[in-house]
Amino acid sequence: MSNAAAPAPERPDRSDVPAHVAIIMDGNGRWAAARGLPRAEGHRRGVEALRRVVRASHELGIRYLTIFSFSSENWSRPASEIGDLFGLLRRFIRNDLASLHRDGVKVRIIGERDGLEGDICALLNEAEELTRDNTRLTLVVAFNYGSRQEIAKAAQKLAREVADGKRDPETIDADALGAHLDAPDIPDPDLIIRTSGEQRLSNFLMWQAAYSELVFVPLHWPDFDKAALESAIAEFARRERRFGGLVAKSAS
Ligand code: IPE
Ligand code: IPE
Ligand code: MG
Repeated sequence: MSNAAAPAPERPDRSDVPAHVAIIMDGNGRWAAARGLPRAEGHRRGVEALRRVVRASHELGIRYLTIFSFSSENWSRPASEIGDLFGLLRRFIRNDLASLHRDGVKVRIIGERDGLEGDICALLNEAEELTRDNTRLTLVVAFNYGSRQEIAKAAQKLAREVADGKRDPETIDADALGAHLDAPDIPDPDLIIRTSGEQRLSNFLMWQAAYSELVFVPLHWPDFDKAALESAIAEFARRERRFGGLVAKSAS
């Protein structure tokens, strides 16, 4: 039997794999609606996609994976849907934390924790504490996260340093502001993927995305898998990054 007619899968060369991939996991509701299912089922299947993508990320050698899991603006959804999303986060941490830890995944959380229910805060802290020394893949969970809020909070911290006489306002530059964001030690994303065909950032990593490559994928998030990740990485590898200069690729 010959498989000569089968198209070669788009496997990224390891050297083309971005160090930091960030994903706007969108389209759970539309995935469910297309199947006559409740939106909650789309979110549940979205968690399965997340598990696949975390596994694929360490198989592919990605060092940092950031996922947008609940935005500051998602509070405008019906209370029942917010309850479903929080329930899934709770279950994801309770069920998956041990295996993430075993796989060497370090969990980090960005976003606003003030005002979240106590048990959610405790779970987020537990996930960070348990996995703090892991080095294989850093999974950054953007939860109750909005980029404008993050930047405003950084400005507030800088203002407080000035008010306390600890900082000269002249020292406030892009590096100083960047150093006051939620995870200043994590490099900017090289590649940002958004599923479901929407082409916007929706308040995700707007500061950090200054030179990220953006790839928009028509699949809804529950259908996203390793092959889809590989093809987004292959698209990334075809881009020429210039960072405002003239030399491609080596410009960083
Ligand atoms: C993404 O799917 C999950 C979250 C925003 C939490 P959506 O719930 O936004 O699904 P659509 O965009 O309505 O299809
Ligand atoms: C962005 O998706 C937020 C998350 C994926 C968590 P939304 O579905 O909330 O974004 P909009 O409303 O379509 O811009
Ligand atoms: Mg959406």
